[in-house]
Amino acid sequence: MTELREKNVVRANIIQSDITSHLTAEEIQEIDTELSHVPYKSGAAIDALKIVQSKRGWISDESLRAIAHHLEMSAEDLEGVATFYNLIYRQPVGEKVILLCDSVSCWICGADTIKEKILAKLGIDYGETTHDNRYTLIPVPCLGACDRAPVMMVGDDLHRNIDDKIIDSVFGDLNEDNDSNESRLNSGVKNSSVKNSNSNSEEGQS
Ligand code: FES
Repeated sequence: MTELREKNVVRANIIQSDITSHLTAEEIQEIDTELSHVPYKSGAAIDALKIVQSKRGWISDESLRAIAHHLEMSAEDLEGVATFYNLIYRQPVGEKVILLCDSVSCWICGADTIKEKILAKLGIDYGETTHDNRYTLIPVPCLGACDRAPVMMVGDDLHRNIDDKIIDSVFGDLNEDNDSNESRLNSGVKNSSVKNSNSNSEEGQS
């Protein structure tokens, strides 16, 4: 009985060390800096997710479990935070994420038309990544620039008063792919969808 208990303790320690070692020293250091600013560990949940996502591009199940362990939270509770916050990606995304505002001011100023043009240009729908892995398109609520609607972010760049010229200047180099994009759209071929999921893996992690 004692021997069995000792084996279980050893096994639990190995599992815990495997989980913890999934985070890099740099990630742990940055998360710990955030922890020093909050009264309880779970208060740093979003910042911890953002830190790991900034290094890896997205939050895999392994990353989620490692962060939860470090914050002394259950993976389920942290999953709830990650799912609620729509800028935490639970599947791999492209090199740049396009955040297209679909709130009321942008909608009144033609966001639907802009959306259709971007969809045609990239050959993807909301939640999908281009076949060359350059862009993932995600709808978001107000980006805080309503007086310059319609608005989108591409990577770190905010684009206001979006029109055909801006779409062409941002995605102009994709013109050569237009025909193949449209035929892929018409044939119903879709790229991998970025939706919160519990069944992803570390595959594709940079
Ligand atoms: S409604 Fe689009 S930026 Fe505010």
